[in-house]
Amino acid sequence: MKAIVYTEYGPPDVLQLKEVEKPTPKEKQILVKVHAASVNALDYRRFEKLSLLGRLMGRVVIKAINKVLGADVAGTVEAVGSNVTEFKPGDEVFGVAPGSFAEYVANGASKFALKPANVSFAEAAAVPVAAFTALQGLRDKGHIQVGQKVLIDGASGGVGIFAVQIAKAYGAEVTAVCSTRNLAMARSIGADHVIDYKQEDFTKNGQHYDLILAVNGHHPLLHYRRALSPNGICVVAGGAMSQVVRAMLLGPLVSKLGNKKIGFQGIATTPKNDLLVIKELLETGKIAPIIDRCYPLHQTVEAIRYLVEEHAQGKVVITARNNDKT
Ligand SMILES: NC(=O)c1ccc[n+]([C@@H]2O[C@H](COP(=O)([O-])OP(=O)(O)OC[C@H]3O[C@@H](n4cnc5c(N)ncnc54)[C@H](OP(=O)(O)O)[C@@H]3O)[C@@H](O)[C@H]2O)c1
Repeated sequence: MKAIVYTEYGPPDVLQLKEVEKPTPKEKQILVKVHAASVNALDYRRFEKLSLLGRLMGRVVIKAINKVLGADVAGTVEAVGSNVTEFKPGDEVFGVAPGSFAEYVANGASKFALKPANVSFAEAAAVPVAAFTALQGLRDKGHIQVGQKVLIDGASGGVGIFAVQIAKAYGAEVTAVCSTRNLAMARSIGADHVIDYKQEDFTKNGQHYDLILAVNGHHPLLHYRRALSPNGICVVAGGAMSQVVRAMLLGPLVSKLGNKKIGFQGIATTPKNDLLVIKELLETGKIAPIIDRCYPLHQTVEAIRYLVEEHAQGKVVITARNNDKT
């Protein structure tokens, strides 16, 4: 089968479309014929020219050279392992499977759910990693509650778009921070208020928020703290690496300075329960993916180059089959 593999660390050009062996599902796994996948920062972090730390991880932990790229996926079940009863060949599914930038991928059945009928394969593939991150950042770390004032810093990318919609689904009053060209989109997905980060620094406008989800961009932790209400929480999901490292290392210290909490969200997980929560939010129309661009599998390098620029308006999708329904 055809798959996107990286043979060394470096810029997106190190990716190659190669013939590799088609996976066989183990007893608790399913084999999925990939219709679509989507690109996340974690994909390019796997092969980009790594820092010392990263090289060490690459050599010792990941050993990821010659591995197929990708995680988010949507497609049809081709075969099931001997212990799988939840799915059958022909079922339309979506979920997470390492190696999804390929024609076929296999992973544990617990990492998939039936694709909602009201979304296409491309739309379904745009959901998992970004929606898991938004849901867990707001619910598990942010302890979001009805009526709270919630700010999403970076509301127009993959994670940000789901964060605005999920915060609305939890009954919050949502402020979306994005650039001028994305203000209308942020309103269209339900934001009650929008702030143009090109014109205004929300940490200096005197407004206070019960919960801030910092997805993109960069602000000093003390500036986030200044924008929090008493007992407010700032969850750093991503943004500039320096912001993530500061939140990891200094967040617990800054949180000791009073009743406001700041910290790194950690790496999102992919539990079945959360996938079913996300599936229901899709089926009820409470969340809807926004696709910025679709690229065929053989143009994955271009897709990743576009994402690395960090100005995608929604998700970047890879369609694994040129003429198949997506
Ligand atoms: N913790 C986890 O497990 C986890 C999981 C997934 C992602 N992440 C992290 O979360 C972050 C977002 O991921 P993503 O997939 O949503 O990225 P993305 O789709 O590439 O984000 C692109 C968006 O970022 C916006 N943006 C860029 N600079 C900004 C700024 N200074 N202020 C506000 N918005 C800004 C851009 O809007 P403009 O074009 O208008 O600037 C664009 O819409 C990344 O750092 C990623 O590594 C973490």
